[in-house]
Amino acid sequence: MTVPPLAAYPATRLRRLRQADWSRRMVRETSLQPSDLIWSMVVHEGEGRIPVASMPGVDRLSIAEAAKAAIAARELGIPCIAIFPHIDGARKDAEGSLAAEEDGVICRAIKAMKAAAPEVGIMCDVALDPFTTHGHDGVLKDGRVVNDATIERLVEQALVQARAGCDILAPSDMMDGRVGAIRAALEAEGLQDVMIMSYAAKYASAFYGPYRDAIGSGKLGSGDVANPGDKKTYQMDPANTEEAIREVALDIAEGADMVMVKPGMPYLDIARRLVDEFAMPTFAFQVSGEYAMIMAAAQNGWIDEERAILESLGAFKRAGCAGIITYFAPRVAKMLRG
Ligand code: PBG
Repeated sequence: MTVPPLAAYPATRLRRLRQADWSRRMVRETSLQPSDLIWSMVVHEGEGRIPVASMPGVDRLSIAEAAKAAIAARELGIPCIAIFPHIDGARKDAEGSLAAEEDGVICRAIKAMKAAAPEVGIMCDVALDPFTTHGHDGVLKDGRVVNDATIERLVEQALVQARAGCDILAPSDMMDGRVGAIRAALEAEGLQDVMIMSYAAKYASAFYGPYRDAIGSGKLGSGDVANPGDKKTYQMDPANTEEAIREVALDIAEGADMVMVKPGMPYLDIARRLVDEFAMPTFAFQVSGEYAMIMAAAQNGWIDEERAILESLGAFKRAGCAGIITYFAPRVAKMLRG
């Protein structure tokens, strides 16, 4: 496009509205609120708080600490907490049997958090990776994650979590057909009010690195041919966008109430497309690697930490997201409160 000389539009000066804080606020198109945040949190089986080295400012929390955090979320106006388990490596097995443990750390955390702050929603991941020795999200056979056998395990895990009081089940495993299977099982058990937020467009990403450290998940590709070094046979190819449409359409048809894009910032184009295409509540997961990048640059003095955090989260609102799953949630809610 050829840009005409400024003189052609003598009255048009877009900077006019930017000249003062009050006028910028007045014409602002989107805003970030504490109610946009889902607090991503790791709970562990022991006592106290354990810092996660690759995620400065993030600790693994004991169940008692998680209950306190639920009260803090209520006070900060954060509507929901997503919990992820750190499991003692010695207790894991190849099938991830502990995923459906009725008195496991996740179920106990749900109950403690709900008792402490019943007004705060609790979301749980449905996937086997925190519980498997090999770190994959499902059952492995001859070096491949087997779809349908994995779904059976995921349904058990989902039901155990739902019975413990989980409000939102979030299948993050990317098996085909898992949303429908979980939805049918919930209906059959009279648990029809449990919500499902599917990790619908979840990519095989390098940005999950620090999360594996946070939850202590088994090392992928430990040299064993039966343990592939990545999740590319079940998570999406980062090069694809049309496929995200098909993934989301299926999850909606199978009974998802909300959908998610993951990772967040590198996939803002996908978030915007899904919002435009489906008009479903669409969430983005600002994943561990995104958190770590911002913190590492800030700690080196290379970016302004608070501004970068707010800008990174505001971008999801601009892309049309209903909200963001983020490790920054409590900090940002405090920043927004001023
Ligand atoms: C497990 C799961 C992962 C994350 C959430 N659920 C890791 C993975 O799929 O490998 C990533 C979260 C983060 O990086 O913050 N299925």
